[in-house]
Amino acid sequence: APAAVTVSVGAEIGRADPRLFGSFVEHLGRGVYGGVFDPGHPTATPEGFRDDVLDLVRELGVTVVRYPGGNFVSGYDWRDGIGPAAERPRRLDLAWKSVETNAFGTDEFIAWCRAADVEPMLALNLGLGTVRDALQLLEYANHPSGTALSDERVRNGSPDPHDVRLWCLGNELDGPWQLGARSAEAYGELAAVTASAMRMFDDDLELVAVGSSNAQMSTFGTWEATVLERTIDLVDYLSCHIYFYNDGDLATFLDSSLVLDRFLEQIAATIQHVKAVTRSERDVRISLDEWNVWNYTAYDEQKPDRRFEIAPRILEEEYTLADAVVVGTLLQSILNHADVVSIAAMAQLVNVIGPIRAEPDGAWRQTTFHPFAAVARSAGHTVLRSSAVADAGHAASAQAVVTTVTLSPDGHAIAVYLGHRGTEGSVHVEVDLAGLDAAEITRSELIWHPDPLATNTAADPLRVVPRTLPARLVGDRLVVELPSVSWASIRMV
Ligand code: AHR
Repeated sequence: APAAVTVSVGAEIGRADPRLFGSFVEHLGRGVYGGVFDPGHPTATPEGFRDDVLDLVRELGVTVVRYPGGNFVSGYDWRDGIGPAAERPRRLDLAWKSVETNAFGTDEFIAWCRAADVEPMLALNLGLGTVRDALQLLEYANHPSGTALSDERVRNGSPDPHDVRLWCLGNELDGPWQLGARSAEAYGELAAVTASAMRMFDDDLELVAVGSSNAQMSTFGTWEATVLERTIDLVDYLSCHIYFYNDGDLATFLDSSLVLDRFLEQIAATIQHVKAVTRSERDVRISLDEWNVWNYTAYDEQKPDRRFEIAPRILEEEYTLADAVVVGTLLQSILNHADVVSIAAMAQLVNVIGPIRAEPDGAWRQTTFHPFAAVARSAGHTVLRSSAVADAGHAASAQAVVTTVTLSPDGHAIAVYLGHRGTEGSVHVEVDLAGLDAAEITRSELIWHPDPLATNTAADPLRVVPRTLPARLVGDRLVVELPSVSWASIRMV
């Protein structure tokens, strides 16, 4: 008989902010050109947006999209991307060794967000850019009219202000690869000056300070503390980024969500530490504004041979079933930390390490699309604490099951997510829902394939898709069997 695991459900962790289901579009490879924007494509809208991609973005359930970078933003002059298309300059993008045509810029992005029904999250250039550049973009975007910059936006076809609420104060400025990288002290001071100037325009903006690029940075922990000591009363969020990849050690890769759990807890503890030393009352929360599966070593290997090209095919990962299981469990880790995380953006959206692939003859869903869409569609408002306990002699099986339970605002709809990281056969799981009034299973899906390395491809985009998972309610217990390396989402009312 398979190992048996019982999941118990406890008190509320926190509110699942809809912004936990965010994404990211950077001027990188075919993320913008040939991804969201392709005026020559048969499905292009009058604005040049790929409609087949827009349909998939809506199906994915993305709520907020970060733009225009990423490493790209630290060399970007936003003025290059506005005004008549024919007058926009071509520039070198040193971050990705590419040529940027600037055919797509801030106004096009905002129009795309309205078409996709997502909230924009704009990143400012605090690498090579200045505080004045940041303030001028803010004025261009958000001031109604009557000044040179706001009237320029009106002339450029956007009579209403873009009203962007969420702003990132730079990107990964702790990283030596970043244009304009600097010390935590220098960045903290620049972020504080920028934030206080932006607040003189609008005190209600939501501002995100740059945290560590990853947990392996030698400054991880001290960077956060140093930056926050200078900015805690001026910002709302501290950013962090994390990527995982399968280097051949599948078991370790499948444990990625445990690494994310610890990463988020360490950042939350650092925020509390700075609150203690500064006596600040401000509730700074985490913006995990880049997370995903990405084999970044592959890009680093190609870098020396790269030539400057327009929209090269770079970072176009083909995701496996195991990647989808990891993405599902990373989303669970994010939800299970809803008490400290308010924003999360899967990086990225289309082509470039994205759940959506767009080729000239069609757009399709990568394996990682499915867990994201399932959670974004069904996650409730409240996340409940849950934990797994195994039968005697099967402790490893309990650790192999990642559990998350959410409730709708009225408590009527229950969503249960179960990730099975085990590679040694199936597990029998019973979730004890006593007190939650589960009467009926409305949808039960499993993402699984006998080959953990199975991928979806242009020729066969339906190899890894959600299938119906047999599930039963026995009294107060939800009962399912999960095959090895699988991810499940079950909804009840
Ligand atoms: O998402 C790809 C890159 O990863 C981003 O440009 C950068 O911020 C991070 O290092």
